Amino acid sequence: MKHDLLKEYRNRFHKEAEHLFFCPGRVNLIGEHIDYNGGKVMPCAINLGTYLAISRNTEKLLRMQSIDFPEGAGLHLQESYTRSGKAWYNYPLGVISYLQEEGHAVSGLDLLFGGNLPLSSGLSSSASIEIVTGFALNEIFRMKIPKPDLALLCKKVENEFIGVNSGIMDQFAVAMGKEGHAILLDCDTLEHEYLPVQLQEYVLVIINTNKPRNLIESAYNERFMECGKALKALKTVLPVQNLCDIAPDEFLLHRHVINDPVLEKRALHVVFENDRVKQAAKALKTNDLVAFGKLMYASHQSLEELYEVSGDELDTIVHFCKTYEGCIGARMTGAGFGGCAIALVKRDKADDFAAKCSAHYMEEIGYACDVFAASVCDGVKEVIS
Ligand code: GLA
Repeated sequence: MKHDLLKEYRNRFHKEAEHLFFCPGRVNLIGEHIDYNGGKVMPCAINLGTYLAISRNTEKLLRMQSIDFPEGAGLHLQESYTRSGKAWYNYPLGVISYLQEEGHAVSGLDLLFGGNLPLSSGLSSSASIEIVTGFALNEIFRMKIPKPDLALLCKKVENEFIGVNSGIMDQFAVAMGKEGHAILLDCDTLEHEYLPVQLQEYVLVIINTNKPRNLIESAYNERFMECGKALKALKTVLPVQNLCDIAPDEFLLHRHVINDPVLEKRALHVVFENDRVKQAAKALKTNDLVAFGKLMYASHQSLEELYEVSGDELDTIVHFCKTYEGCIGARMTGAGFGGCAIALVKRDKADDFAAKCSAHYMEEIGYACDVFAASVCDGVKEVIS
């Protein structure tokens, strides 16, 4: 991948790339749709992601191209920029724009992106392209921005430049990932702890539903708003800032004030999912993968029935996993509405699992899913300079 990208860089820009950066994607082991509710999540960076080959130019031009998309952009350097429809380069453009708005000087740049992360699959391809851009500029122009601040800037891009009310999890995970570790991240304070992921005789498998996620942005923003409404009602009786500040028993005592069955279901998911993350952290620390797996299944069920962000495709996979003997836990990961599921599968059963899961999915859904193993790797880094 990286050699092809560097060769393509030469073809397109008629010079060598000065730098090559890589930013991974992520899976979230547990703690879904609670980052924007001030909860705890447990993502890890994976060995698939986005490469960026980049050099400065003296023509005051921002040239952004990708080997994955035909269209590219060539813009004159300005003080700030506006979004251009649905183009992929809005992500790097937003990052460059917000860095400049924060007073960081930037020269002309020639950027070529390329990735091996399936796009729109819930593995954070957007956070990956944002962070690789921000990290590259941070290094090249010596901006000295700490990685958590870079993650916050990229979250702002997602929220304001792109228009999705997402939380901090994805940007933080792909920036701060650590090989062989999950990040237990408090999304309210950004305090975090690295937990070793020791899978013993299991492997972490990713199953991509290959379902196009067209409505994801509007559905995601709808859940965000629903949580805000439930919180507003609960604040009338509880002194809290976030839904995740509420303990499960406290919630059960006060849930009636929400006075709307749909909002109540959403909040029920959020409060109990946050609690599951705490239990999952304990299970990981004591190497109890079976307990961890059960929590994954419980998390999925809650996302399916209470938060309603799953769908037939993801449910078909997770329900299959429950019937498969060598699988001890599975759930959707990321925003949902399609995208990917993750599963903990016995290493010596991984090939058999992939074959049977694929056949079952094809029969039920009518098109193929992709099943692949993932390893847990470091966050964004420079590959060559
Ligand atoms: C997307 C968002 C994250 C998070 C997840 C759901 O990946 O970008 O901030 O909300 O969905 O947990």
